[in-house]
Amino acid sequence: MRIISKSDAATVEIGKRVGHILKGGDAVALSGTLGSGKTWLTKGIGIGLGVNPDEVISSPSFSLVNEYEGRCLLYHIDLYRLDKQNDITLLGLDDYFHERSVVVVEWAERSPGLFPSGFIKVKIEILDDNERAIEIDSDDPAISARLKKGLAI
Ligand SMILES: Nc1ncnc2c1ncn2[C@@H]1O[C@H](COP(=O)(O)OP(=O)(O)OP(=O)(O)O)[C@@H](O)[C@H]1O
Ligand SMILES: [Mg+2]
Repeated sequence: MRIISKSDAATVEIGKRVGHILKGGDAVALSGTLGSGKTWLTKGIGIGLGVNPDEVISSPSFSLVNEYEGRCLLYHIDLYRLDKQNDITLLGLDDYFHERSVVVVEWAERSPGLFPSGFIKVKIEILDDNERAIEIDSDDPAISARLKKGLAI
């Protein structure tokens, strides 16, 4: 599914819709260049998952993993500073993927092997100052159907 967002608020809204249909065990792999809107989308996903909107969801650049509590646990991971598969294995990121958690990963392309089957792929492309093309898909037909339902206007 390809959706055009014309503002950061619209990207948060799209994230919210994705967050609404997520459940424990789901993982979201975000890719897109610097400043494309991955963190804003994650904010929306958090809100859709029932995280208190007053909690600031920002890129976990220093902590690598931020944890939030909503309908289920939300782990927000940013792989920006990692570029070796080795580093990632050492950090034991696999442990964050379990049945009670939703994991959202920025710069997911840096560790394609990290994700469980059926994960949700999101690619954000900068079209203009305020315009983004957001591509959202999953190989898993059940997850794909949930997404279509959640994102239908
Ligand atoms: N349609 C849009 N959707 C999302 N962000 C937008 C949009 N239009 C403008 N922006 C701006 O683009 C920036 C997106 O920042 P954000 O931190 O979400 O990017 P990011 O992809 O997480 O970057 P990084 O790779 O540095 O983590 C913000 O400054 C935001 O206001
Ligand atoms: Mg970010």
